[in-house]
Amino acid sequence: MAARSFYVTTPIYYVNAAPHLGHAYTTIAADVLARHHRQRGEDVFFLTGTDEHGEPVALAAEREGVSPQELADRNAERFRALAPRIDATNDFFIRTSDAEHGARVQEILEQVRANGHVYEGIYEGWYCPRCADFKTEQEIAEGNTCPIHKIPLTREHEHNWFFRLSAFQEPLERLLTESPEFVRPRSRYNEALSFVRSGLQDVSLSRRKLTWGIPVPWDPEQVVYVWWDALLNYVTALAYARPGQDLTAVYWPATCQLIAKDILKFHTVYWPALLMAADLPLPEQVFVHGYLLMDGEKMSKSLGNVLDPFAVIDRFGSDALRFYLLRDVPFGQDGSVSAAAFEERYERELANDYGNLASRSVAMVRRYRHGVVPQVPCDPAIAAEFEGLPGRVAALLDAIEITQALEEVWQRVRRLNRYVEERAPWVLAKDEAAAGELDVVLATLIEGVRALTVLLAPWLPVTASRLLEALGAPEIGYDAAALGARSVTAVAALEPLFPKQP
Ligand code: MSP
Repeated sequence: MAARSFYVTTPIYYVNAAPHLGHAYTTIAADVLARHHRQRGEDVFFLTGTDEHGEPVALAAEREGVSPQELADRNAERFRALAPRIDATNDFFIRTSDAEHGARVQEILEQVRANGHVYEGIYEGWYCPRCADFKTEQEIAEGNTCPIHKIPLTREHEHNWFFRLSAFQEPLERLLTESPEFVRPRSRYNEALSFVRSGLQDVSLSRRKLTWGIPVPWDPEQVVYVWWDALLNYVTALAYARPGQDLTAVYWPATCQLIAKDILKFHTVYWPALLMAADLPLPEQVFVHGYLLMDGEKMSKSLGNVLDPFAVIDRFGSDALRFYLLRDVPFGQDGSVSAAAFEERYERELANDYGNLASRSVAMVRRYRHGVVPQVPCDPAIAAEFEGLPGRVAALLDAIEITQALEEVWQRVRRLNRYVEERAPWVLAKDEAAAGELDVVLATLIEGVRALTVLLAPWLPVTASRLLEALGAPEIGYDAAALGARSVTAVAALEPLFPKQP
């Protein structure tokens, strides 16, 4: 039987500025899912990339006195370089300035037009050039400003091609009421549904004012409105990610599309409507996470309140960043981040709870058993508390409960620490009659650390591979995730996994 396929995407990021922690956040979350599903033997495709056309990029290029293509080339490289720095294992990196993407967008839009969903008209209304968004009345903040970017909206009057979004009012309502799982979490689902119920107006499909974009195939004087161009990346990438191969039938529809709430309307309303208009299947789920906040505001380049992910990684390593972001901010909700909170988690949880547990366990086997792990079954009390853990973690990750899944594992990390204190191996080691008991404690600790490390590998991939290597049990497949699934025979010396910071 063919392995189940799992296709996960991040938004494609604007190349109007360098990447910041907010971008790293979504990519890390998608990577945790991709790695976990690979552990389960699924056929995973993980896509990220850059959104290069439209006003946000054209205006930034103008400000910097370079061409949009130059700015795009420069910043796309920075985004591309971010992925390996955060240990993201994306299978492809799409740039919407790729010629193959442009050609496929044109083909799909021709289909939308042939299906009768395109007409010529005049747009009159408010527009945010940073969001590249034609704002509806309920999306406008006081004084005709953008609620996201806090800048004045512009008044647009433009003759262009329109997409008949209003024709999808009823199909979208049906989609959302029949498949409430299409948008998660629930609060975001409610937002999508209420947007649809408030009444859909047709949206521009093209822009006449701009030249930086994909030409409209039947009217090359105009370019495709950047959101349609951008949304289609999720489909177009599959056609050319692997030269000579079309992966569309293998991976489309996507299993899980991650976004933050800033782009909810585009992904939960425009996107399914466009797919329906093009006769393409809809993704299984759009998961909307919250904002990383600093000083109570959304972290964003234009607001100038950003933490530099590269600086954090240089000092603490990418695992620590991955862990912190998905542990401290419940995935799906907004949450504040700060250097102080990061350092506190690093010290207390990574260095002490987990790093120390691994170091102590290995050191005790080396000290009391010359590095040879006793071949006895694990302590039944601990085994009972680990029972069913891989299944629970998998179920939580299937529900995109990334923080909850990590907490489920962390409870066992803490449990093993308590076990060390309860059994005090250093006391047992002094009593020859307790040699059998010490064997059980040591075997349980090593096997416990191993099994938990397999489960933690999606969050802490670098650490997991170092530690499992030292245990001589490098497998991270899901069948190695249960307590007792493998038996470690000997341990090698282990440098601290999360060194104390000066
Ligand atoms: N180019 C569009 C998306 C097109 S997708 C077809 C865009 N780009 S963006 O560069 O502004 O990226 C927005 C996305 O970056 C958010 O949806 C989220 O995934 C991530 N984030 C950016 N800042 C963030 C926070 N402060 N907090 C959480 N996520 C953040 O919109």
